[in-house]
Amino acid sequence: MAQRIFVTGGAGFIGSHTVLALLRARYDVHVFDNFHNSSPRALRRVTELTGAPIGTTEGDVRSMRDLSAAVDAFRPDAAIHFAGLKAVGESEAEPLEYYTTNVQGTVNLLRAMDKQGSRRMVFSSSATVYGTPSYLPFDEAHPINPSNTYGRTKAMAETVIRDWCHANGDAGAMLLRYFNPVGADESGRIGEDPTGRPDNLMPFIAQVAVGRRQKLSVFGDDYDTRDGTGERDYIHVSDLARAHVAAVERVLERPGCDSCNVGTGQGVTVMEMIRAFERASNRRVPYKVVDRRAGDLGSYYASTERARDVLGWSPEMDLHEMCASTWNWQQQNPNGYRDG
Ligand code: WQD
Repeated sequence: MAQRIFVTGGAGFIGSHTVLALLRARYDVHVFDNFHNSSPRALRRVTELTGAPIGTTEGDVRSMRDLSAAVDAFRPDAAIHFAGLKAVGESEAEPLEYYTTNVQGTVNLLRAMDKQGSRRMVFSSSATVYGTPSYLPFDEAHPINPSNTYGRTKAMAETVIRDWCHANGDAGAMLLRYFNPVGADESGRIGEDPTGRPDNLMPFIAQVAVGRRQKLSVFGDDYDTRDGTGERDYIHVSDLARAHVAAVERVLERPGCDSCNVGTGQGVTVMEMIRAFERASNRRVPYKVVDRRAGDLGSYYASTERARDVLGWSPEMDLHEMCASTWNWQQQNPNGYRDG
């Protein structure tokens, strides 16, 4: 009997790639998603790629009733919790939305899992919980000091899960702190499809390259980095999905609460990303340098030792593959999932 994994936000960019990896690892998956920032088409395409059905409930983690009913019906062995709001700027403008969805939504899921006596959880956290670096690379012992509301909701949800684990000896949780997820499955059938104007660098570059946007605004070139532009640790979404499968295996094996960075340990600047994308797509990416974006940090990247030691996981995809796979998805789907 296949072990059953309940995946909130499973139709999203990272969620759909993780569901693909779980199905290929022979897990049985049920997705719970409100499709606020995702499309049911992503799940249909995952089923096309695997031939495996995906049980799906359209629902909102803010609704204890919806969540409880779906968890009771599926009786999961573990859950992966992706569902949440993730735009830093928006979080500053609408903090209560972010606390309700990202923190109360996590409490609701834990309650629903408690009712089922199923206390194994992988949580989608973020490097944003670290805030301004006291040192680099960020390791998991770095102080938690988020500098924006989004990061504070992720840090608070981590604390909720940690306390839940301490109160329940049989509970197991893995907090995965993502750096910058990019790329797409090699098939090009699933990928990042942000609603409206992309906040993030890679989807914006891809939309410029495919002709949906005129040019990229580079937010500042006066940082203390190799070329003055912002430096981040980009991680291929398929590598990130593999890390989630490893984390599920770990929480199914043992109780306790642990955290792992999920990055490559390598920083890439905005200009380096532009050049890499132009090489991978053979398209030009026009840009103009503008003022820094409020709240941006100059440079951060991950220490990946703990993920290797605790999860037995290491990233495999390089920057060229991140760009080439993004371009393959964008070219096949110029309007994302709206193309059907
Ligand atoms: C990357 C670099 C920008 C857009 C955010 C969230 C974080 C995580 C990942 C959820 C920076 C520059 C960007 C553009 C640019 N999300 N940039 N022009 O800000 O590192 O992280 O997404 O967990 O929580 O904060 O990602 O892709 O927005 O920016 O010059 O149009 O690209 O200044 O240096 P970020 P990003």
